[in-house]
Amino acid sequence: MAFNTRTKIKEVLALEPTGQDTIVMGWVRTFRSNRFIALNDGSTPNNLQVVVNYENTSEALLKRITTGACLKISGQLVHSTGSGQKVELQASHIEVLGDSDAEKYPMQPKKHSLEFLRENAHLRMRTQTFGAVFRVRNAIAYAVHQFFQQKGFVYWHSPIITASDAEGAGEMFKVTTLPLDGTAPKNDDGSINFKEDFFGKATNLTVSGQLEGELAAMAFGDIYTFGPTFRAENSNTTRHLAEFWMIEPEMAFYDIEDNQNLAEEFIQYLIRYTMAQNAEDLRFLDERLKEEEKALPQDKRSEMGLIEKLQFVVDNKFERITYTEAIEILLNSTPYKKKKFQYDVQWGIDLQSEHERFLVEKHFKKPVIVTGYPAAIKAFYMRLNDGCEPGRETVAAMDILAPGIGEIVGGSQREERYEKLVARMEAMHIPTHEMSWYLDTRRFGACPHAGFGLGFERMVQFVTGMTNIRDVIPFARTPKNAEF
Ligand code: 4AD
Ligand code: MG
Repeated sequence: MAFNTRTKIKEVLALEPTGQDTIVMGWVRTFRSNRFIALNDGSTPNNLQVVVNYENTSEALLKRITTGACLKISGQLVHSTGSGQKVELQASHIEVLGDSDAEKYPMQPKKHSLEFLRENAHLRMRTQTFGAVFRVRNAIAYAVHQFFQQKGFVYWHSPIITASDAEGAGEMFKVTTLPLDGTAPKNDDGSINFKEDFFGKATNLTVSGQLEGELAAMAFGDIYTFGPTFRAENSNTTRHLAEFWMIEPEMAFYDIEDNQNLAEEFIQYLIRYTMAQNAEDLRFLDERLKEEEKALPQDKRSEMGLIEKLQFVVDNKFERITYTEAIEILLNSTPYKKKKFQYDVQWGIDLQSEHERFLVEKHFKKPVIVTGYPAAIKAFYMRLNDGCEPGRETVAAMDILAPGIGEIVGGSQREERYEKLVARMEAMHIPTHEMSWYLDTRRFGACPHAGFGLGFERMVQFVTGMTNIRDVIPFARTPKNAEF
C-alpha cells in the first residue's frame, strides 16, 4: 500500500466529527501533560489537538513525542470538549517517523526574535509566523497568474543571463566561466578578453526582464514576466534584496493612464484574493503585528491594524499626483519647514524614502501614484512628455508608493518614437549598436505601449505586515549574506 494515507490537517479541522478513522502526519509543536499533542502539517496555521491515551502508551514512545518530531497518527475524530477547537483526534496508534532531540532543536515552543529565526531560516517555516508568511507568499504568486491569465496576458520568460543592462543604472552580477586566478585571457590593453568567455561576450544576471518583455508585447499585445532579478547594489536596508522576484507586465496600445489603471486594479486584486483565501493566516499576522507594535512608542505604531489597512486599500482609489505636485506638497510640509528632512527638496531631486513616506503615511494616508518625473533621473526608455518647459523635461513615468513600504511599483509609458529614443540613448551614453534588437521594435511596427514592475517581496511585505524584506523570502541574499 502506498504510504500517503493522510488527510491534511486543514481538511480535518473542517470535518464534522463522527468518530471516523483518520490518519494525520505532521510535526509536533508542543506536547503537554503527556497527553495533548499540538500537531501541525503546514496546511493551516492551526494545530490539530491529538489526545494520547498515556495509560496505554509505552514510556519509551511518550519520551519520543518532542517538539519538532515527525509523527504519523491514526485515531478517531471526535468533538473536542476543550476550548479553542471544534475537533480533536483520539490517538489509537502513534508512529514516530522522525525523532527530534528536544535539547538541540532550535525552534523551541517560545517566542524567538526575528533575528534568531533569520539565522535559522532552514527551520523557521515551521513556526506560526513564517508558516503564515510563506502561505501568503504562495497565495499572492498564484493570484498574479490568475489575474493576468483571466485577462488573456501571455506569461513570458525573459532570460536570466543577459548581455544588456536594462535600466542602465543597477550594479550587475557578472556571469563568467573564466578563471579568477589572474590567468584569464587578456586584450592588448590588459582588460579581460570576454570573446574567450563562455558566451563570447561579457554577461550578467538580469536586473529586469522588461526590454525582452517589450519585444513580446509587440507580438502578443499583453504579456507579463514573473521571475527572479538581481541587483548588486550595496543597499543594506529593510526593503532591498540582491535577489528578488519581480512581475513585469508590458502592454501594447496602453498609455500612462491605462498603465496606472492596470497597476491599481492588479494590487487590489492580489490583496482581495489573499484576504479571501488566507483569512486565518492574515488574522494571525494581524495579531502578531499588534503585539510587536506594543513595544513601540505610540507615534510609531500603525494607525490601522493589518486587515483594516488591507481592506482600506481595496476599498479606496489610490491618490494620483504629478511629481511637480509632490514637490509642492513637500515644500509646504511641516517637516520641510522645521528642517526635519535629511535630504533637500527642490524640483529635480529623486524623491528620497523620507519624502515618499511623508506623502503616503502622513499627507495622503493611502497608496499614491506619482507620475511625470524629471527625465534626468529616470531610465532611457521612458516616454518624453510633450510640451515641457525648457529645462523641466519630464517623462511618462509612474511610481506607486505604499504605506510602510515606499516604492512598490515602478513603470512608464515607453518611448515608441525612434528618433527621440535614439537621441535619449545617445545623451545617456547607451551604446545603440548593441541594442539594435531593442530598437527594431521601433523600426518595425512600433505602437504606444507601457508597462511596470511590481517588486514581489515588497508586495508580500505589504500584505503580511513584515517590516524586514528578509522575512518574506525563504532565503534572503543581501550584502555579505548568502547562507543556505
Ligand atoms: O523601479 P524598478 O527598478 O523598475 C524596473 O526594473 C522596470 N524595468 C520595471 C518596468 O517598468 N517593467 O523596479 C521595480 C520594482 C520597484 O518598484 C520595487 O518594488 C522592486 O522592483 N525592487 C526591489 N525589490 C527588492 N529589492 C530590490 N533591490 C529592489 N529593487 C527594485
Ligand atoms: Mg524604481
